[in-house]
Amino acid sequence: MTETVVSSVPAARRTGEPGRLWHTFCDMNTVSRGPEFVVARAEGVWLWDSSGDRYLDGTASLWYCNAGHGRREIADAVHRQMTLLDSYTVYGDFANLPALELSERLAAHAPVADPRVILTCGGGESIDTAAKLARRYWAVTGKPEKTHLISRTGGYHGLHGIGTSISGMERFRAGYGRLLEDTSVVPHDSAAALEAEILRVGPENVAAFFAEPVVGAGGVYLPGPDYFTEVARICDRYGVLFVVDSVICGFARMGNWFGIERFGVTPDMVVFAKGVSSGYVPLGGVVVSGRIADPFWNREGNPFMHGTTYAGHPSACAAAMANLDILEREDLFTVALEVERHLDGALRTLAGHPLVAEVRSGLGVMGAVELTEEALTERGITTADVFAEARSRGVVLRPVPRALLVSPPLIITWEQIDHLVSTLAASLDAVSSR
Ligand SMILES: Cc1ncc(COP(=O)(O)O)c(C=O)c1O
Repeated sequence: MTETVVSSVPAARRTGEPGRLWHTFCDMNTVSRGPEFVVARAEGVWLWDSSGDRYLDGTASLWYCNAGHGRREIADAVHRQMTLLDSYTVYGDFANLPALELSERLAAHAPVADPRVILTCGGGESIDTAAKLARRYWAVTGKPEKTHLISRTGGYHGLHGIGTSISGMERFRAGYGRLLEDTSVVPHDSAAALEAEILRVGPENVAAFFAEPVVGAGGVYLPGPDYFTEVARICDRYGVLFVVDSVICGFARMGNWFGIERFGVTPDMVVFAKGVSSGYVPLGGVVVSGRIADPFWNREGNPFMHGTTYAGHPSACAAAMANLDILEREDLFTVALEVERHLDGALRTLAGHPLVAEVRSGLGVMGAVELTEEALTERGITTADVFAEARSRGVVLRPVPRALLVSPPLIITWEQIDHLVSTLAASLDAVSSR
């Protein structure tokens, strides 16, 4: 077998001309000036760029590489599956064995009553699926006016149509004309605000409430101790479907399967992606309760005419099965709880730094180091400055407008956590002294 390994920047690029790849989630006016940061190889928690320099992956790419990079057995599982059945649709009555097995396995662990599993190719696609299903559920059960969707400040649910509409960050909603209009956002830390909003809109108009167990990309905001118990009670009381977005929090990042188990509540739907396959192949989905499935599964005339070509992709499902084998065999669920404690302790040492306003961590393998108002406004320091400094020192972090986020692979060692945090501290010092 000949191997095609791209190990250097394409020759056409060495001339200094801008490339052809339109990077996503960025300002190409800056990025096209290059040079791009080409990730050539990865192993464990380490990345190598195309010059051979090594970096600690402090973010597991985009919060997804839970099992760590370079897991041969996932690659082998995908190879085996592709040589047997590359892909085939699961529309209609078509199925494939990996999609069936994965659905059984996820259902067995989901904190959802009598679960059914819809498979997709990622988080945003799953959010749109869950939102459409919520509205459709009310339509087929005789309440078609229940369409309003409520989400939380800082909540990030991807950037597909509905995910954009319910974003808890205005910067992702602005500039696209009319999005879904029957949506609203409530403060992430107040169950009372959710109740007030349901009453303002009218429970007869509200379809669903969307919440991440820990607000992730919006800046790592942890829920108060009773927040989810209250939320579940309110949703139940007013007949609002409770949809948990576990795209970041799932698959051991919070020490369990879907994150929300930490709060002992039972949602109507759980959206997942990222860690289900550790990102080796794109995959996501929605776990749906039997109650929501019932009118579609057990009554005539209610097809759910929604889906995407690659849903239930057997090679993606094979990757997920191999990834879940690793999570279980290495008990990364328990490991993650220990990493959570160590990461929390290490990040908190930054709380006294003059540029740091707040450290948020201690629930899941994730954390945020927020810069002070003075640093951000009066001194004009940006999180992008700190990010760039840290990367030049060999550690990759994620900058959001006010904070640096960390979410390493769950296999990170104590020594590597300390290296991550001391590099972040040194980067803050360097940026501060400029
Ligand atoms: C909580 C949450 N939901 C949904 C998404 C969207 O997932 P995707 O980027 O795969 O569409 C993300 C992505 O970061 C996320 O963090």
